Amino acid sequence: MDYYFKLIEDCETVLKENDFGKYTVPSKEIYPHQWLWDSSFVAIGLANTNIDRAKQEVISIFEGQWSDGMLPHMIFRAKETHNDDREFWASWRNPKSPSIPTSGITQPPIVAEAIIRIGKKLPKSERLSWYKLMLPKLIDYHEWIYRERDPSNSGLAIIIHPWESGLDNSPPLLKALKEKNYTPIWLKILIALGVIRILDSFRADTKHIPKDQRATTSDLIILNLLRSRIKKNSYKIKKILSKKSFAVEDLTFNCILNRANAHVIEMAKFIKYDLDEKLIEKFTKTEKALETLWDPYKSQYFSRDYFTGNLIKEPSIASLMPLYAGNLDKSKLKIIVESLENKDLYASNFPVPSVPLNSPWFKETEYWQGPSWINTNWFIIDGLKRSKYLDHYEALKETTLEMVENGGIFEYYNPNNGHGQGIENFSWTAALCLDMTKKD
Ligand code: GLC
Repeated sequence: MDYYFKLIEDCETVLKENDFGKYTVPSKEIYPHQWLWDSSFVAIGLANTNIDRAKQEVISIFEGQWSDGMLPHMIFRAKETHNDDREFWASWRNPKSPSIPTSGITQPPIVAEAIIRIGKKLPKSERLSWYKLMLPKLIDYHEWIYRERDPSNSGLAIIIHPWESGLDNSPPLLKALKEKNYTPIWLKILIALGVIRILDSFRADTKHIPKDQRATTSDLIILNLLRSRIKKNSYKIKKILSKKSFAVEDLTFNCILNRANAHVIEMAKFIKYDLDEKLIEKFTKTEKALETLWDPYKSQYFSRDYFTGNLIKEPSIASLMPLYAGNLDKSKLKIIVESLENKDLYASNFPVPSVPLNSPWFKETEYWQGPSWINTNWFIIDGLKRSKYLDHYEALKETTLEMVENGGIFEYYNPNNGHGQGIENFSWTAALCLDMTKKD
């Protein structure tokens, strides 16, 4: 295909540069380990160009699987790093952790999408053996999600740290976190005295990226304090929840889970694997429960605080993720699509901004508080196609590919001028663009 020829070549180069043989790092400079959803996106991209390497990427993700089924959001691969990430997490505190050091939390379960997409590219007999190899491990992960993360049997999984949504400093997540009074007095004093800058030197990311393109140091501290609380409880969910700290029925996570569940069912049918009836019931419950995240007053889906039971009514890109979830209420999906066309909301020059343009949180440079990201665009594009909004699908796909072709392969993009932001040569941008350039 000579269409996007240069872009395809650049994407392949980035993926090769970040390739460590069996796993891919998001960026050599600032993300030297393996991340769960990053690697899944990489596998989705590689499925189009190098199927064996795509399989390997997925297999390496499962090297980090805990004996209870959890897939950690990070597997620590690099030996020397700026801060000692292994000690930071100390996964060995929990006897269910594997021999390789990992984090103790998860990330959205997009790996099912990677497995099924690889499978669909394989001839039937190889597809059978691929699913036979991967499905039992994947089911263990989904079983873990329902066992550990759906304590009230509502059908919606909770996340216990904003990092588990993948959208680290997204407004609804920070809002929920700050409502728990997580800002300690010493931090409040440092902020009030305007001396928080002293702590900036401990950051690795801002050595490579302008400061205004990253999460603030005070937000990072709060996120890290929550991490250390979770670690103190050895990643044991009952203990963590008994402290009534952060727990959110996250929209992004659950939309991805719903789609992943459908993939699990399809793969199980293909290999004639008997799925546990109880698990299938849970899958159905998730689909129904997603509708309870709809707010009829704001005409939007939101995440919900698990402890208060209140929707977190702060608009963000998460509110568009039901497009990807599949099988949701058609009239609500129409409202979402209209918000994509609205110039006060998501119709920026270079869409889709991670926060609507009219939000008081919106900043065109700051991480998950404004910039357009390729993975969230990819979810929306995939959802538009499956919901048969084909013109919108084509338009957003073309705009996204052009933005990357012109702006370079970056972590995220300025939604007003399309400039690349964050770290350059970012793996999931490359992988998902490769996927989007393929013929339908
Ligand atoms: C940041 C992103 C997260 C991603 C990680 C590695 O933490 O917010 O989604 O997985 O970087 O790229």
